Amino acid sequence: MDAVRSGWVSSMGRYIDEFEAVFARYCGTEFAIAVSNGTTGLHLALATLDLGPGDEVIIPDLTFVATANAVAYTGAKPVLADIDPVTLCIDPSSVNSLITKRTKAVIAVHLYGHPADMDSLAAIADANGISLIEDAAEAHGAEYKGRRVGSLSRCGVFSFYGNKIVTTGEGGMLTTNDRAFYKRAKRLRDHAMSSERRYFHEELGYNYRMTNLQAALGVAQMERIDEFLEQRAKIMAWYHSVIPTGEAVRLNKVRNWAKSAFWMVCLEVDSFNEQSRNAFMSELKNMGIDSRPYFYTISSLPMYRQQPLPISLRKSRTGLNLPSFCELTQKDVERVGRAVADLLKQVK
Ligand SMILES: Cc1ncc(COP(=O)(O)O)c(C=O)c1O
Repeated sequence: MDAVRSGWVSSMGRYIDEFEAVFARYCGTEFAIAVSNGTTGLHLALATLDLGPGDEVIIPDLTFVATANAVAYTGAKPVLADIDPVTLCIDPSSVNSLITKRTKAVIAVHLYGHPADMDSLAAIADANGISLIEDAAEAHGAEYKGRRVGSLSRCGVFSFYGNKIVTTGEGGMLTTNDRAFYKRAKRLRDHAMSSERRYFHEELGYNYRMTNLQAALGVAQMERIDEFLEQRAKIMAWYHSVIPTGEAVRLNKVRNWAKSAFWMVCLEVDSFNEQSRNAFMSELKNMGIDSRPYFYTISSLPMYRQQPLPISLRKSRTGLNLPSFCELTQKDVERVGRAVADLLKQVK
């Protein structure tokens, strides 16, 4: 309400500065830049690195389409790597096999809240002189070896869409420790306007600004981020207590070096194929329980179609997300979990 009453309803105002400062401190980076959404954040990061036609950017095949689209907006080519079957994140050995003279960057996506194997990826990026970026849209507060995501590469990119761990309605944030990168990204966010001459624009820039109204929501949300993350961990534990898991039926696995943000509850059943996974989701729907399939692979989409990658394809066709909203109660989760457990008994 203070932001509304202040009259500073667009992208100037104290809540932008405050949100950026709070977010940078939370991630453990020196700088943060608030943007209009996660997709524009990814594009801004790539534009700041001067990517364009002729360049290649390695991304995982299993991710939300925004990761690939942001690369395509620059004119560069998204090159698709397969994923680790446990973390569902980009597989460093697959990345290594795809490096060419044209490779300029790798985007590690911390999918469904689990961090990617950043040390291995950083070693590959360093050895080849290319930039490593984190798409942390789904992973606010997740940790890799005790360090928060967003602080583990040249630049982290977050989303504050309504279903994310922290939301501002729509919104996004870049995090970085690189002062030159920060200054350039901040300028490009605002049409690359000269700091000395108003309305003089030094190069092609964008309007990717966040509003002060959204930033005020963001500041308030950041006061509660620990509570949101604790609640998500509880929801995960409640699911584990009702759904019998083992080798062939799995809920989210977490590597011993990782702390997951548990953005989405992930269910994988080895005997599923695409049809039986979809039938399982329909049965849940009949009981009034919504669920989501894993993302389609990028390589299966018309704009990026290519040979499928085996692990990404298998996960994409057979995985599903159970209700994960952080206001679910133990009773809600137990009801869903029991329905899932009962249906699993019928799965051959
Ligand atoms: C992995 C990933 N990257 C990027 C985005 C894009 O974020 P936004 O919806 O804020 O543009 C999302 C989510 O929507 C996402 O899940």
